[in-house]
Amino acid sequence: MNLLDLVRGCTFDDFLLTPRQGVLPRRDPHAVDLSSPFSRRLTLKRPIVSANMDTITRSAMAIVLAEEGGLGVIDRGFRSGDIGPQVTEVAAVKRRQHGVIADPHTIDRDGRVSDARQVMDRTGVGTLAVVTAGRRFVGLLTERDLRFVSAGTPIAERMTPLDRLVVHHGAIDLSEAERLMAEHKIKKLPLVAADGTLQGLVTARDLVKHREHPCATRDAQGRLCVGAAVGATGDYLERAAELRRAGADVLVIDIAHGHSVVMEKALAALRQQSDGIDLVAGNVATEAGATFLVERGADAIKVGIGPGGGCSTRLTTNFGVPQVEALVRCHLAVGGRVPIIADGGVKRDGSLVQALLFGGDTVMLGSAFAGTEETPGDVVMRPVVVPESQKVVPVPFKVFRGMASLAAMRDRLDLEDAPDQEVQALGAEGLEVSVPARGSARGVIDDMLKHLCSAVSYGGARSLGELRAMFRTEPEAFLIRLSAAARRESFDR
Ligand code: XMP
Repeated sequence: MNLLDLVRGCTFDDFLLTPRQGVLPRRDPHAVDLSSPFSRRLTLKRPIVSANMDTITRSAMAIVLAEEGGLGVIDRGFRSGDIGPQVTEVAAVKRRQHGVIADPHTIDRDGRVSDARQVMDRTGVGTLAVVTAGRRFVGLLTERDLRFVSAGTPIAERMTPLDRLVVHHGAIDLSEAERLMAEHKIKKLPLVAADGTLQGLVTARDLVKHREHPCATRDAQGRLCVGAAVGATGDYLERAAELRRAGADVLVIDIAHGHSVVMEKALAALRQQSDGIDLVAGNVATEAGATFLVERGADAIKVGIGPGGGCSTRLTTNFGVPQVEALVRCHLAVGGRVPIIADGGVKRDGSLVQALLFGGDTVMLGSAFAGTEETPGDVVMRPVVVPESQKVVPVPFKVFRGMASLAAMRDRLDLEDAPDQEVQALGAEGLEVSVPARGSARGVIDDMLKHLCSAVSYGGARSLGELRAMFRTEPEAFLIRLSAAARRESFDR
């Protein structure tokens, strides 16, 4: 029987996987290769992606995901035409850490302390490179140099001049920079070209970050990677251009029904405008939908119609494909031409490995991160009855909502004052729920990775890639279709 026949009409909780002889010496996420392609040009060391939802991914979440080896996609849930806030979120991720800072903040040597304070306040940066006309590097100025000094003091009097600094001439790799900084016990290493112009800056803080997060998803300049979502109508072209300028590493054209003429037009227009950046398109759930996107130039496709935790599409329209069937159908149709992002429906960590075996190269998660510290939105205290004592205690909650929920649409489309019937007429396909506030998403990701490594071990493989290859060679040897009783035994706790 082929794989599609084995999974027709099925989703994650319909299956268990048969354990095999373990060959992994350790189930440590640092020792097990979980790397997977996210899109044509971007590979993640950890195949975990946070959903572009306005209650899930803003810069705080995207930073954690990228530091842990995955990727966050900043949602487009900002008002149409209001591009600045999304750009700010992308820029915040890109500024978070660097390898070599190619364009360090500078101050003119002829300025005063007040000028330097202004630049430091505006940029949030505590060290400025001091330059003269033509960007010739002449010194460094730190916050400490400005302490207890009057505003009118010349910068030249306060800076540490070039002759008292260790600098490096020309380009440098990070391990050599680390060696030099250790040898000279310095925190900043300016890079200077042969003609004396400033070429870059390496900071100890960035190098420490690199050590702390060895699996982080970084661009060629050592900055964290981030994705950004755009729509397929309205301001999407202008938005895409601005997001690119801010440093977005990949654009996700995200509409509920990606197999559509609207998507076709948007993909063509973005393709023309956005050469050199990967375009992810979605969502689809059929062979025809997947092929449609690949043939129109998508660099990855997002698969999932209706499995999401905040989603009511299947309830309100009765359209959709059970997520495991959708993944298999799209995987078979795409045939490895571009990576697949399995989007939605992962409610427990055990489903992660399923999403990755049935067709997903990476997995996108929304509700799994709901309520964590890094999600946007306020914490509200709600009274909850403790079943054992019947006492009412205040419990912190955060809101999680589908992007097609009435509340999200109301915010995004600037419909605060619109009559209710008009908002209802938009046809909501999303839910809004309160979820208990909890700790950092880092802990959630940590658990996911450990569980994924354990799954690789139970499957008798050494890496995620090897497990995939084994599964795809003989899926019937792995798959156990569950009876209702077996499902209860497995998942009811
Ligand atoms: P999970 O299950 O991880 O799914 O919460 C996240 C995915 O759900 C999708 N999404 C929606 N789907 N109506 C929908 O039909 C919505 O309002 C909605 N909001 C989010 C989206 O694909 C996300 O990545």
